[in-house]
Amino acid sequence: MKLLPGRLYDSPGMGKTSMFREIKTVCQDYYESKLEQYGDSPHGVDWADTDSQRLRFQILCGVGSLEGKKIHDVGCGLGHLVDFLADNGVDCEYVGSDISSKMINKAKRRLPEAQFHVADILDNTAPDWMKVDYVITSGLFNVKADNDRQAWQQFVEAMVRGESPLI
Ligand SMILES: C[S@@+](CC[C@H](N)C(=O)[O-])C[C@H]1O[C@@H](n2cnc3c(N)ncnc32)[C@H](O)[C@@H]1O
Repeated sequence: MKLLPGRLYDSPGMGKTSMFREIKTVCQDYYESKLEQYGDSPHGVDWADTDSQRLRFQILCGVGSLEGKKIHDVGCGLGHLVDFLADNGVDCEYVGSDISSKMINKAKRRLPEAQFHVADILDNTAPDWMKVDYVITSGLFNVKADNDRQAWQQFVEAMVRGESPLI
């Protein structure tokens, strides 16, 4: 099958909605198993170590001057970007969101002063708290697992476009 840009295709025998739901479930289960195994640490969000996690933050935060700006950290996990920003003296308004309520509950307990929401970036909703200056995401597309390659590619493309699988 030839893939046309901007189109979503169904896997044989499976609609795109259920296909995407299955990918998201696999992804969420994967990260929650890491959290259960390693707790609040870079390993708990599947990074090899603090240095590699922070190197990614450093590069991503180079998107612009974040000082005084509002940023949305999509797939924030345990909110470790909040610590990175504080350690580097960046004074900005932070809001983090993650599909996993287990991640968000832990992040909220650890950082009660920061704003966190349970949200799926593919839900196609735009609440007020999503109106920000910068959107940052680190590691959102890391877990393909055993998912079909083409289905995974469509999923990632929909994420990048901020597109709901329901449309
Ligand atoms: C590799 S972890 C990175 C966590 C954090 N960004 C960090 O670097 O410490 C990826 C996170 O993306 C979240 N995630 C995966 N799919 C998502 C979706 N559709 N919407 C929101 N978050 C999602 C996972 O639950 C997980 O916490």
